[in-house]
Amino acid sequence: MKVVGKALSHESATLHVTGQATYVEDLATRTARLAFAWPVQSPHAHARVLSVDFSQARDLPGVFGCLAAADVPGENDVGPVRHDEPLFPEEVSFHGQPVAWVVASSSELARLAAERVVVRYEPLPAIQSIAAAVAADSFHAPAERLRRGDPEQALAAAAQRFEGELFINGQEHFYLETQAALAVPEEGGGLFVHSSTQHPTETQEVVARVLGVAKHLVTVQCLRMGGAFGGKETQANTWAAVAALASVKLGRPVMVRLTRAQDMSMTGKRHPFLGRFRVGFSVEGQLQALLLELFSDGGYSLDLSAPVLGRAMFHIDNCYLLPNVEVVGRVCRTHAVSHTAFRGFGGPQGMLMIEEVLDRIARQLELAPEVVRERNFYRPGDTTHYGQPVRDAERITRIWSEIKVSSDFERRRAAIESFNEAHPHDKRALAITPVKFGISFTTTFFNQAGALDIIYKDGSVQVNHGGTEMGQGLHTKMLQVAADSLGLPLSALRIMATRTDKVPNTSATAASAGSDLNGAAIKAACETLKERLCEVAARYFHAPAADIVIDTGRVFPVEKPELGIGFSDIVQQAYLERVPLFATGYYKTPKIHFNRETGQGEPFHYFAYGAAVSEVEIDGFTGQYRLLRADLLHDVGDSLSPLVDRGQVEGGFIQGVGWLTTEELVWNESGAFVTRGPSTYKLPTLGECPPVFNVALLQKAAEPGVVYGSKAVGEPPLMLAISVREALRAAVAAFGAGGVVELASPATPEAVFWAIERVRSARKARSRAAE
Ligand code: MTE
Ligand code: HPA
Ligand code: MOS
Repeated sequence: MKVVGKALSHESATLHVTGQATYVEDLATRTARLAFAWPVQSPHAHARVLSVDFSQARDLPGVFGCLAAADVPGENDVGPVRHDEPLFPEEVSFHGQPVAWVVASSSELARLAAERVVVRYEPLPAIQSIAAAVAADSFHAPAERLRRGDPEQALAAAAQRFEGELFINGQEHFYLETQAALAVPEEGGGLFVHSSTQHPTETQEVVARVLGVAKHLVTVQCLRMGGAFGGKETQANTWAAVAALASVKLGRPVMVRLTRAQDMSMTGKRHPFLGRFRVGFSVEGQLQALLLELFSDGGYSLDLSAPVLGRAMFHIDNCYLLPNVEVVGRVCRTHAVSHTAFRGFGGPQGMLMIEEVLDRIARQLELAPEVVRERNFYRPGDTTHYGQPVRDAERITRIWSEIKVSSDFERRRAAIESFNEAHPHDKRALAITPVKFGISFTTTFFNQAGALDIIYKDGSVQVNHGGTEMGQGLHTKMLQVAADSLGLPLSALRIMATRTDKVPNTSATAASAGSDLNGAAIKAACETLKERLCEVAARYFHAPAADIVIDTGRVFPVEKPELGIGFSDIVQQAYLERVPLFATGYYKTPKIHFNRETGQGEPFHYFAYGAAVSEVEIDGFTGQYRLLRADLLHDVGDSLSPLVDRGQVEGGFIQGVGWLTTEELVWNESGAFVTRGPSTYKLPTLGECPPVFNVALLQKAAEPGVVYGSKAVGEPPLMLAISVREALRAAVAAFGAGGVVELASPATPEAVFWAIERVRSARKARSRAAE
């Protein structure tokens, strides 16, 4: 391979750092007669909208118009799965929900006018937590169930057991670029929409639905996103629909670009989860029975909550064999923003549950947590609780033993023990946790992708595919794939903006499957073109087509490289011979299937693996802590692009650390989201990054049946951060004298402080009892 596997910089790195990379908002200065829309947001979590009065706003200078339900020519709904998200609601379902919009010549004028819109509400009682939803029987859908063996019987027979629960708070995406869309009317009723969306096809669909027009009238383009993390998988559609509606009504371009506070108060987050578990296990720490109830907070509408819950249920095994298990999942309906996709898509919550359970087993048995983990690992021949064989189970143990050595695990553990003996008020701890993450959309039909490659007469190439770029480096990888598939240097290739009129009917760029799916589609398109060109070259060189080589922009018969001619020469020749110089490519993931009735199947093409060792130090007076060192070993197969993959592993891990430690979502008693900016919502920064941060990609790990032997990388490393939570828990334990350590999630310094208080009072109670 010439280009695939090279450690290249992100294809837009220079544009990013010089400020030349274009985002939706940058188009404002290039768009004549542009107007801006501003929302009128509900001050109630649940209320009937009695009236909306625009009279004080409508006639202000610079105001072009106001938008209400009556302006919708099509369907007043933007729900991506279920149609349960009115664009203009008669009943508001969360605090901050937009009820109307004002459009003006500037954002500032639109804001001033929106403040003058008078909305009368009749407040209604609101359901504001999972517990309240469960009590009120408020759910979006019937229970889902996965089951194997006889967990009730196994629980009754187990030597040891416990029950407990864990609440896991959600997470704000905090993509740097807030939600944005720009709609530009075209002739004949057409509309061009620039959208910061992971899913241009669905954005097109929703815009067409709201306008009541056929999809061929709507073109959606995504040049790039300034981050998305799942937050723009479905939740970009609303803003595109508002911009579209306003631009059609006013006959001019309209932009919607949310402020940070608007974005944080109007868009969904990672789902908060509540798990209630009953666990049975042997005295050696082998898990024998798990009965788990999983409740997710779906918020006011269904959105992607069903597949998110499904992925959580698929991942409650992480790397461990669950011989007797039942997991029952429910999506709660609450009066909150609609929670949505977020890196890991429910997987992290499912995996956190089992790691919590294993740690409790370890502490109840007074075994080292990593020993209990090892004893429960999948072995070759095992299948998951949903019937998928874990074909590469030995990879878990390979990664585990490699990282134990490279992180110097045993020696550091001993050193930490002596540190802790010497320091009554500061405690350190080390924890190691594994990751197994299923790759494929669990909604099987989404696992398809298309590409369109265009060769111009000078031999330069445009690459189009259905995936979107959000910083993850998909376009970089796709250029690398195209370069090697065509035999061209990168300089001959240009990647184009993602557009619904180039590649139609695409899936979201999500489930980490972007490069697997689009890479295979691009490769197919390139191979079609290469085949055609080789036939032209075969005639030219009087050699068999099979003997023609295209390498780094030169074309020659394999035995006679000295006869080589330029790629553009053969392209020119092909044109003269009337050979088409553009081709589409298509890919669908083979073999995957899942039966929702039986809860059995092989929903994933393969698993991505990793493991992490994290070391923390806690101050026992305050609960403040530091992450001292993290060692990550992650399996990306044969990396398409090692620098990009390294960035994904580092970034995913730190994002996971934020979720599990400092980032705390807070809603107040009236349902308002109060942590509405980085001053109150503590994001991980450079200060939270460990001073020693060793990141390695597993070597010699080619994955058969995936483009160039690579593996998906976008989401799995996030879950390596569970090692940090477990290290914190182990350090808390060091302040006590054994027993289970209850630790809230996120484990903020405050939560850690209270956890320390609990283990300290348990220790005192024990020593008093001993006296
Ligand atoms: N990396 C960056 N820099 N920005 C992002 O928004 N999103 C993540 C991950 N890595 C994201 C990211 C999520 S949620 C997914 S599903 C994948 O990228 C999507 O891209 P891929 O399928 O090309 O990996
Ligand atoms: N991951 C991400 N997005 C999705 C999935 C999935 O498994 N299924 C549907 N949308
Ligand atoms: Mo990623 S949560 O699948 O967009």
